[in-house]
Amino acid sequence: MISNIEEDKTNLTPFQKEVARRRTFAIISHPDAGKTTLTEKFLLYAGALALAGSVRARSSQQHTASDWMSMEKQRGISISATALEMEYQGFHINLLDTPGHQDFSEDTYRTLMAVDSAVMVLDSAKGIEPQTEKLFKVCRMRGIPILSFINKLDHPGRDPLELLDEIERLLGITAVPMNWPVGQAPDFKGVYDLNDHRLRLFQRTEGNKFRVPVRLSGMDDPSLPALIGEATHRQLTEEIALLAGVVSKFDRARFLAGEMTPVYFGSALNNFGVEPFLEAVLELAPPPSIRHTEQGIIDPISEDFRGFVFKLQANIDPRHRDRMAFVRVCSGHFKKDMQVLNPRLKQQIRLSRSFRLFGRERETVEEAFPGDVIGIISPGQLTIGDTVTTGKPIDYARIPTFPPEHFGLLFNDDVTRYKQFNKGLEQLEEEGAIQIFFAEDSLKREPIMAAVGELQFDVVMARLKDEYGVEARLSRLGFTGARWARNSKSERLALPRSVRRCRDRHGETVILFNSEWELDYIRRENPGLTLAEMV
Ligand code: G4P
Repeated sequence: MISNIEEDKTNLTPFQKEVARRRTFAIISHPDAGKTTLTEKFLLYAGALALAGSVRARSSQQHTASDWMSMEKQRGISISATALEMEYQGFHINLLDTPGHQDFSEDTYRTLMAVDSAVMVLDSAKGIEPQTEKLFKVCRMRGIPILSFINKLDHPGRDPLELLDEIERLLGITAVPMNWPVGQAPDFKGVYDLNDHRLRLFQRTEGNKFRVPVRLSGMDDPSLPALIGEATHRQLTEEIALLAGVVSKFDRARFLAGEMTPVYFGSALNNFGVEPFLEAVLELAPPPSIRHTEQGIIDPISEDFRGFVFKLQANIDPRHRDRMAFVRVCSGHFKKDMQVLNPRLKQQIRLSRSFRLFGRERETVEEAFPGDVIGIISPGQLTIGDTVTTGKPIDYARIPTFPPEHFGLLFNDDVTRYKQFNKGLEQLEEEGAIQIFFAEDSLKREPIMAAVGELQFDVVMARLKDEYGVEARLSRLGFTGARWARNSKSERLALPRSVRRCRDRHGETVILFNSEWELDYIRRENPGLTLAEMV
């Protein structure tokens, strides 16, 4: 629901104006669809990359501002979600980065709890890929408005109508083209804006380094057939006539409800269609909106400061061995040193170490507004899902934990590093990087590491080594799933020998299993027992 700052823009207080000009969103895509390139171009328009001096030039092996962990650099994938802030045309943009690789989707899901809208990037040759489908379902579940960018139009791709149809079919959302490609690669000539009925023509520039000069003209411009070619002109005229009959009209209310997505075509790499797309994002995407909780609604413009922790990350900067809690501000005016309540701990906390991150650089934040993300250093006092407030305690929607599918016993052969090993595991588990279980029915006391995606194991092993100086060894276990055993009538459970009974860090019983047959057996032999998928 939109706060009344959208309805009445005339009499806003300075604080309300700050809220109204904020746009907080994430870009989601399948790896390689062009998320990094699009992010980079957005930063370029905002002048932010020039400031940070970190424009990526793959040829010289530099990396984007959001691409900072050494693992990420080696593999060229973005593992952790960071927040980028920029100013553009009077808007204050908070762009939350999400990992594209599906092994880190838990991190992405948590980040989606902190955004007001999402941008979906699709590769025009591939359409909806499995990862995009999963992420989109999360957006749909949360009713997050989605804008779509179909990328790589400079390369041969699929038929645009077929792509729109695929979005509608697989994601169950109405797709409304806002512009239409003119010609197909290698003769891609530009896009036709279906709202203002003008053409933006794409001209290659040397090395694609600079902004493309944009040439605008209407369909009735007599020079058009010569400009784009007779055949392309004829085809475009036919396609536009056809579109009028088959696509829905854009309806912002349906977009805000997450039922309709406006679709833009372009090429991020060639910087074509990026600027109008960024402008559309700012115009159509909502400012921070009202959030519903079990205890009532939270209006961003209310006086009470409220925020919630959606991410924890230790050791971002090796010079500061500390842990940062990323707080999304939901309402009120944040001021450094303010005193807030953490209702979970029933404790007052002074937020005196508040930071803004640009890549790995940190800078002190003196104030922040709804929609912003601040990094708070507050040892042991904040964990994922916590809320902080100056008002009445309110819980936000729970941040989900996903059921792990990969398991391994973790050995630390160096007894002198015992303390570091335990500390590392505890911190990485608190960050949500992995879950740790201990087997109850075996003499082995080694922790069992459980992850949603395989690559999480590699990250944890690398971070144990780099950040805690521990060379751990992993021995994979063959289990394929875990369930939390609840409501058991007795401590004794009748279990098949092939499963393993463990405890998680809250002391709850978790059963690791291999097959549905085992789950059926457990349900049958233990009447009343619930096998929960999530914590
Ligand atoms: P991701 O973050 O979604 O994983 O994708 P990223 O932006 O890294 O882009 C993946 C690849 O697609 C990159 O190529 C990038 O240059 C290319 N790409 C992005 N946008 C476009 C586009 O509009 N047209 C074309 N043709 N390619 C595009 P790469 O080979 O991995 O790297 P590079 O050597 O080209 O930099």
